[in-house]
Amino acid sequence: TAIAPVDVVLFGATGDLAHRKLLPALLRQFKRGQISPQTRIRGAALQDVSLDDYRHSVRKALWRFAPEAAADSSVLEDFINLISYQPINAAQYGADWEALAAFLNQHPQRSRLFYFSTAPRLYETMAANLSKAGLITPQSRVVLEKPIGTNAESAARINNGVGTHFTENQIFRIDHYLGKETVQNILALRFANPMIASVWSSQFIASVEITAAETVGVEERADYYDSTGAARDMLQNHLLQILALVAMDQPTSLEGNAVRDAKVAALKALRPWGEGEELCRQVAAHTVRGQYGPGTVDGKAVPGYVEELGHPSQTETCAIMGAYVDTPRWRNVPFYLRTLKRAHEKCSEIILTFRPDCNSLFKNAATPGQAVAPAPDRLILRLQPDEGISLSLQVRNPEAPHGATGTATLMQLVLSAPYRAPHSDRIADSYEKLLLDAAHGDPALFVRRDEVEAAWAWIEPVLQCWAAENTPPMVTYPAGGAGPGLPVLQP
Ligand code: BG6
Repeated sequence: TAIAPVDVVLFGATGDLAHRKLLPALLRQFKRGQISPQTRIRGAALQDVSLDDYRHSVRKALWRFAPEAAADSSVLEDFINLISYQPINAAQYGADWEALAAFLNQHPQRSRLFYFSTAPRLYETMAANLSKAGLITPQSRVVLEKPIGTNAESAARINNGVGTHFTENQIFRIDHYLGKETVQNILALRFANPMIASVWSSQFIASVEITAAETVGVEERADYYDSTGAARDMLQNHLLQILALVAMDQPTSLEGNAVRDAKVAALKALRPWGEGEELCRQVAAHTVRGQYGPGTVDGKAVPGYVEELGHPSQTETCAIMGAYVDTPRWRNVPFYLRTLKRAHEKCSEIILTFRPDCNSLFKNAATPGQAVAPAPDRLILRLQPDEGISLSLQVRNPEAPHGATGTATLMQLVLSAPYRAPHSDRIADSYEKLLLDAAHGDPALFVRRDEVEAAWAWIEPVLQCWAAENTPPMVTYPAGGAGPGLPVLQP
């Protein structure tokens, strides 16, 4: 069947995300025939650049970020021809908005996808301006990039503002981690395998660690990053979404709202931090904030965060929080959420550590001096790169010394497999999937308003304590290292 053409308007079209992720994703979809050749992509941003200059910058970005797709020069040029550009002042209604209207109204019946990838404080005004220009039709959808606001109050204001002009089912709050195949796989792994489902609780699991480490620093986004920080940039959204998928109870169905109901229940069950002195005591004991200093990454000397910025800063580039999910399933199981820039390797993963069996026949070693507790069994879901699953188990060491008993006879065996499609090595980038879902109006992998609000409600007291009380103090970690250690959680 023919694919209906869509008019896509990218607000923030000259920004990092558009060049690095959105346009490469659209090119790949175009190459695969997933978007119609009549699709129009309108870049919109404050900069007054000519169409030629904009197309030139897009071409360069596509060569860099989607080289395999851009290598086909006729596909590339056909795609570039879908792109147009217009300078627009997002914050103020004027002739530029009317020019956008004239362009879109050439095809009044078409589906419209407005992608907001600007500073989130502009979202309400942009929605109002679209409405004033008469551009929001029943076939229109709006995608909101994260972070939605900087705290619960600003998130509510944005949600209300955008919600005045778009209905909730026209609003697609994107969290690109939800589009990652490995993140979607959490649901399948948990609920398609009775063996896994049966051990997925505090009875068997001692702790859960969710990590997103990156080798990159702040790159060209210093302004955005320095006013945001690791907790708002990654933890409030990506990591809490992963936590929700790991911690939720079984949804009543696979339908989008059923899964979101289950996720929001898990987010609302996050144990609150308490108030007053108790709040700061909890935050001091259960969170870590860090900033990278100078170091070496991939064999190259790199400056520290403040040197890179050129001015002092209290913004964290590493955020770690320990959480409890107060549902019967997870009673007193610590969940550690950890994200950092300038780590020694890029790695996002979930580690589930199983409880040792105190009555195990193997708990003791008979040989003096070898009373080593066996390493706990662990299930690791490697989200990226190097997507895969591994399970470590205790097995008998074939070289165990004669007469050894208990732990002295054991060794660890790691079962590890890559996660990929049976007939392809390439896992589609999450933006490819999510942009198509938004264009087709499928909200399942987008974040519902109540999820955003529950996530802010939990994290906001921590951010307040960090900022107002300087508690806990910022630690400096060397770039290219493992980053600060986890706090110790005592239920
Ligand atoms: C974005 C953050 O949401 O996710 C960036 O704003 C971060 O700071 C990026 O680098 C990481 O995404 P991924 O898919 O590379 O893990």
